[in-house]
Amino acid sequence: MGEHAAAPTHIPVLFSAVMEGLAVRDSGVYLDGTFGRGGHARGVLERLGAEGRLLVMDKDPAAIAEAEQLAQSDARVSVRQDSFAHLAEWDATASGLDGVLLDLGVSSPQLDNAERGFSFMHDGPLDMRMNPQAGQSVAEWLAEASESAIADVLWHYGEERQSRRIARAIVARRTERAIERTADLAALIAGCVGRGESGKHPATRSFQALRIFINRELDDLDSGLAAAHARLRSGGRLAVISFHSLEDRRVKQFMAAHAKPPASNRRLPEPRPFTPTLRLIGSKQVADDDEVRANPRARSAVLRVAERVG
Ligand SMILES: C[S@@+](CC[C@H](N)C(=O)[O-])C[C@H]1O[C@@H](n2cnc3c(N)ncnc32)[C@H](O)[C@@H]1O
Repeated sequence: MGEHAAAPTHIPVLFSAVMEGLAVRDSGVYLDGTFGRGGHARGVLERLGAEGRLLVMDKDPAAIAEAEQLAQSDARVSVRQDSFAHLAEWDATASGLDGVLLDLGVSSPQLDNAERGFSFMHDGPLDMRMNPQAGQSVAEWLAEASESAIADVLWHYGEERQSRRIARAIVARRTERAIERTADLAALIAGCVGRGESGKHPATRSFQALRIFINRELDDLDSGLAAAHARLRSGGRLAVISFHSLEDRRVKQFMAAHAKPPASNRRLPEPRPFTPTLRLIGSKQVADDDEVRANPRARSAVLRVAERVG
């Protein structure tokens, strides 16, 4: 980075709606499972009293370094580098939480730093791990995965209609030379898909799919929702921002399953009496035009909020 280059930043999405949704209590205990650059976390701290606590998690070492700096200047903050899927294993959550925020997906600094390998716009090593110290990179996985496994990932996590053709091209190419750069993979996919949807790079869906797969994002989301539900105190709030339909469907179904009785079916025996453990707070919220203009990443953001009851 040049001497005058600004530090990579991340503009928090749906900030006011998240703060309203969390309804921060003065002496509450809150957990931000996706610290990123701390935009939402700082908002929580501004609303929290001296007795309150903010627990923050992230998989990413750069996010954790920033969170640790914040913790040094604010004794209410505790930090743990881990997936939010494991939030209930953190002792600090054992006495219960008054709010949990999950702002899913990647941060702008992750996308903008070519070396992290998330971007088809900036050439870099084909990595895409939120924690580059754990697990396999996309390049390592693509070097050994079967053609059908690659096609399945592109189809299930990217809904990429050309998944088989792209998988075939990847396997053909890797016999000549390894695919190790994001630009190399993006060009290979563009060659299979053509121009794709207007306004979208043809590799958008495939990159999304590989990122979700390599970081186990949907499994983490399922575990994280269950762990948050288990740790929330009565009256505690769960706020989740998702960025694509695969995530949002899971969030919506999870919240509905705990808030509403299952639809009755005359052919099945009477279900057991249903006791809700969540109450939906409003319906889904999306960014308005002004926010999308100021922060294009907000375009696909969907916020859902629920309150723990019982
Ligand atoms: C959209 S950004 C969050 C931005 C943050 N709300 C802010 O205002 O700066 C998502 C962050 O969540 C992290 N992340 C994604 N999945 C995670 C998981 N399962 N566990 C922990 N952190 C995760 C990413 O590393 C990234 O830093």
